[in-house]
Amino acid sequence: MLILGVSCYFHDAAAALLRDGQLVAAAEEERFSRKKHDFGFPENAIAFCLRSAGIQAADLDYLVFFEKPFLKFERLLLTSMQTFPRSLKVFREAMLTWLGDKIWIRHLIQNKLGLPGEKILFSEHHLSHAASSFLCSPYDEAAILTIDGVGEWATASIGVGKGTGVRLLKEIRFPHSLGLLYSAFTAFLGFEVNEGEYKVMGMAPFGVPNYVDQVKKLIRLHADGSFELDMDYFSFHHSSDQTYNQKFAALFGPARSPEAYFFTERSGYPSYFGEKPSNYNHLCQENQRYADIAASIQVVIEEAVLNLARQAHRETGSKNLCMAGGVALNSVANGRVLRETPFEGLYIQPAAGDAGGALGAALFGYHTVLGQPRSFVMEHAYWGEEHSAAQTEEFLKSNGIAYERCANEEELIARCVESLAAGQVLGWQQGRFEWGPRALGNRSIIADPRRAEMKETVNLKIKFREPFRPFAPSVLVERAAEYFELGAGDGKYPSRFMLNVTPVRADKQALVPATTHVDGTGRVQTVAREWNPRYYSLIESFGQLTGVPVLLNTSFNLRGEPIVNTPAQAYSTFARSGIDLLVLGDYLVRKERS
Ligand SMILES: [Fe+2]
Repeated sequence: MLILGVSCYFHDAAAALLRDGQLVAAAEEERFSRKKHDFGFPENAIAFCLRSAGIQAADLDYLVFFEKPFLKFERLLLTSMQTFPRSLKVFREAMLTWLGDKIWIRHLIQNKLGLPGEKILFSEHHLSHAASSFLCSPYDEAAILTIDGVGEWATASIGVGKGTGVRLLKEIRFPHSLGLLYSAFTAFLGFEVNEGEYKVMGMAPFGVPNYVDQVKKLIRLHADGSFELDMDYFSFHHSSDQTYNQKFAALFGPARSPEAYFFTERSGYPSYFGEKPSNYNHLCQENQRYADIAASIQVVIEEAVLNLARQAHRETGSKNLCMAGGVALNSVANGRVLRETPFEGLYIQPAAGDAGGALGAALFGYHTVLGQPRSFVMEHAYWGEEHSAAQTEEFLKSNGIAYERCANEEELIARCVESLAAGQVLGWQQGRFEWGPRALGNRSIIADPRRAEMKETVNLKIKFREPFRPFAPSVLVERAAEYFELGAGDGKYPSRFMLNVTPVRADKQALVPATTHVDGTGRVQTVAREWNPRYYSLIESFGQLTGVPVLLNTSFNLRGEPIVNTPAQAYSTFARSGIDLLVLGDYLVRKERS
């Protein structure tokens, strides 16, 4: 049986294909369209999934869409009516797009793919999130927690999974939303909503959470996990371009300008910002306020997530937890769930945000609706497109690019480790690209974490990104506990998918300065030989040479671009940046130095 899951028209569009309950392929549309966070109909991702299975759309038994368009339309309509006339502008915009496209999704899919209407099913947004985690987790039963901005009406839910069944027990409804609260601060701190949330998380450790009382004026947290926002401080329910209002700004002071450099006394002033401004001390103080605000919202979100997780434990009594939704990408909060709640196991699949809804919809259709037994666990994230040696060689030859082909993997690894140890930065493209927003060793930029200056080198020459964002460490799974204080319940998954921020052991912090954040933590990725043998060998060999089985891993893209997919995109990124050595499968391309 062939089931395609689709998510689109909201955040990240994606498609995922199941054959008899086994995942064949899953990918976000942005990797093909090259439009970051592309939310349009995922034509390319669907075509890729069908191609991977060697089938046509007509062969599909079902297509399951990740949410119910009419329910969402109802929410927009009712919310607009409640806040009329302030909402007139957003109401008009919403009507235009909804009546133009979104509400007629069944019809649109019929037209685009030529599928008969009865083959098109609809899940619900938070049910898709819940299914996307539990139904490919290793657990037969688990508590489920979904937290995001908003779906149709729900913004968070507690549920339970058992066998092939997924049931939501409780939900919190729009406009009360942890995701939208975090996004309001993302905007206030000068970052793009749905993109800059990681930056808030990265900025937080530079601050002290001394604005918690003010944040708690915006949100009331209850011991049973529920919460309410005070809507007097927000505009997202009646505005399409403003998430917070004047009353919010009066509480926290002027918003941070998106163009301003961020630095504090603690971060120092990186050389690539140019000359120190004459009002450096004043700017340091200003930025410290923003860092303190970031620290405060982060702490309150963590408290809210912990409340929800503890409630999910009380309601289900399960020792396992499955999480999904955009807020489940907050790996600092996830680390605390692992360390501070009674759950022994935590599973979060790598595309925990809305892209993952495509996978959840397909799994929900196959198992919960059709009652088919489970036989699939998502053990790794490598479900995207791959490119053969012949395709890579053809690309290199036809573009007149000088390359070497390694005779075997041993030679390839030896050359790469030699470069890394010499302080070079690698662009590493191997096998199938990753499902979800993190690069996990198949589309990664890799460097030596032992060199403190590597953080600045990679930022300056390659990523051109904010200096306060930490780089992640990839570590051999067997050696992870030597370097990181993994929670007692950390089986393997949140760290395998780089979804867990955890303290770096005090005696090891100086060994890996480039991947240790200012607060002594790391967003660790554990690497197992079984699921990525080539990346494992690279780290293992680097460890044999240097004594440190850890590499710095950041996604293979330039600022503002989606992660690379093809050899051509990898080469283009290499050519436009300071990456020293490009590795495309078995092929090596070096920078020509003049
Ligand atoms: Fe969502």
